[in-house]
Amino acid sequence: MSNVNLTINGQKVSVPAGITIQEAAEQIGAFIPTFCFDKDLTAPGACRICVVEVAGMRNLPASCVTAVAEGMVVQTESPVVVEARKMILELLVANHPLDCMTCEKGGNCRLQDYAYRYGVTGGAFVGEKHEYLPDSTNPYVYRDLNKCILCGKCVATCNAVSERGVINFAFRGFNTRIATFMDADLKDSECVYCNRCVAVCPVGALVDKNMMGKGRIWDLEQKQVTCTFCESGCNFNVNYRDGKVVGVTAANAAAGRPLCLKGRLGINFMQNPDCIEKPLLKKDGEFVAVTWEEALGIAPILEKLKVINK
Ligand code: SF4
Ligand code: SF4
Ligand code: SF4
Ligand code: FES
Repeated sequence: MSNVNLTINGQKVSVPAGITIQEAAEQIGAFIPTFCFDKDLTAPGACRICVVEVAGMRNLPASCVTAVAEGMVVQTESPVVVEARKMILELLVANHPLDCMTCEKGGNCRLQDYAYRYGVTGGAFVGEKHEYLPDSTNPYVYRDLNKCILCGKCVATCNAVSERGVINFAFRGFNTRIATFMDADLKDSECVYCNRCVAVCPVGALVDKNMMGKGRIWDLEQKQVTCTFCESGCNFNVNYRDGKVVGVTAANAAAGRPLCLKGRLGINFMQNPDCIEKPLLKKDGEFVAVTWEEALGIAPILEKLKVINK
């Protein structure tokens, strides 16, 4: 594939033809914020937080859907770009609960991060706010659409599995929201609680209910493991706090997101207080703990297995 030469923030770069400005900027470490773009999903070019300034262009193009071109001169944080991003963020926070102090996503939220970066505190626009009732009717996913920024990633990832398509955009204008069929609660929908949508949501609109209140992102230590429940062997992160498992999250886009419920909730087996740690043998009417050697020595089926194994 041929290369294209362009200038980003005064730095000359040579990148493969066909890639986007956002990808080219990423290659040289130039920051561009994104909400709706995800390299493993789609690039709908909807949120426009990723706009950049390109010399000769009248408008600010969305960098996640604009391909690089020979001789392009790009600015990723010029005053006009920063102004445009501030305006988008002001509009978002004008219709947002802004309860970062207690929000499960606090410290791990793109809206919060970008508002901090661009000094957006809210108040530039005052208007009607949504007052949706959060959906807490199922044991796995907590949905608070008041915090939704309509990036569409949850819809894209749910629809990426052909038999799913549980959620989609519904209603219009100010009332546009992500909804299930007939706008039912998740528990009354076809949702299988795979948590793909939770994994991609950039804000606190979708939260893993099992991890609520169990720690901020910086409180948790993550260890990547491979699930052994089935032959798919999905990779995921087991999250620990103070040495105790508090939940399972996606490890990476390719393998982590399609985790099934079994993989996500298998931690319950790991820390089940009723789980026996030693074999038990009934002696004089009572179960007593014995060694594995003793247990294997008397269990006929295991004896047979030993023979087969020889
Ligand atoms: S979703 Fe983000 S910005 Fe909104 S309350 Fe939660 S942490 Fe704050
Ligand atoms: S949990 Fe899975 S099935 Fe349910 S809405 Fe999210 S992505 Fe779709
Ligand atoms: S729920 Fe989250 S992922 Fe879905 S559209 Fe809203 S902000 Fe985006
Ligand atoms: S991230 Fe580019 S338009 Fe949303």
